[in-house]
Amino acid sequence: MDVLPRLATGSDLHAAAELLAGAETLLILTGSGMSRESGLPTFRGPEGLWRGVKPEDVASIDAFRRDPKWVWEWYRERILAHRNVEPNPGHRAVARLQKQFGRSTLATQNVDVLHERAGSKGVLHLHGQLNFVRCMSCTRRLPLEPVLLETLPPPCPACAGILRPDVVWFGEALPEGPFQEAVAAAHACDVALVVGTSNLVYPAAMLPQFAKQEGAAVIEVNPESTPLTPDADVALAGTAADVLPTLERLVADLRRTRRRGGARPGFANA
Ligand code: OAD
Repeated sequence: MDVLPRLATGSDLHAAAELLAGAETLLILTGSGMSRESGLPTFRGPEGLWRGVKPEDVASIDAFRRDPKWVWEWYRERILAHRNVEPNPGHRAVARLQKQFGRSTLATQNVDVLHERAGSKGVLHLHGQLNFVRCMSCTRRLPLEPVLLETLPPPCPACAGILRPDVVWFGEALPEGPFQEAVAAAHACDVALVVGTSNLVYPAAMLPQFAKQEGAAVIEVNPESTPLTPDADVALAGTAADVLPTLERLVADLRRTRRRGGARPGFANA
């Protein structure tokens, strides 16, 4: 027998919209599922980037020291794939949703820049960014110009050391500034909206837990269950590009109606 996918129902969406419309401070945490409908793969699962690869074999400093050219070849493929994708309606809905809040923080585990390209500002990149490189010797950080991919591993233009992708590898600490800012936002938010992450990778997975511990409501958007789902106040079972535009519109309508002191849209006014 086919198993039908769980789908976010109208009442789930309204419950989530009510929570967001009543909130002042928002934390959004995104993972690779956020960019799936732009054409980028997630990490886990049958189609994921880690399928058939041991993550430590490509995404660790030991692997890089052992064979920087091989690691770079893996990353070059991903970098080229990133250049051919566009933000999806979910990224654009996130940017619009943020504008509805006086205080909002967007923290992503994604190394793409699709949130920025959709209009989000000040995105906290917890796992680095694929469009930057860092020198292993002089530690200079610079934008990844296409010319740098012509020789692998690319040499540092300043000191001729080896450049590495500016992403967080297994066993490495998260960039301190962005992570501390995300932790502060998790402690301060009224609602944490968690989109497209398996919530398996720490310390990013701690952020919704911090929010919950401080009394914030947690809303999850994911077509699958994750370890966070049982603790979410509302779990919206659907994809980012499907769920987020509807959710954002509902929140905007609710806020408009509340400002006017009128009836709640989408609800029977009996
Ligand atoms: P995962 O591959 O672990 O999880 C992706 C999640 O996205 C899953 O829970 C899917 O159900 C969900 N998903 C798939 N399609 C979706 C869609 N269209 N809309 C919404 N959700 C969807 O990826 P991450 O949680 O991002 O770290 O992985 C976290 C970290 O693990 C990554 O940043 C990376 C990886 O190892 C580093 O490289 C340091």
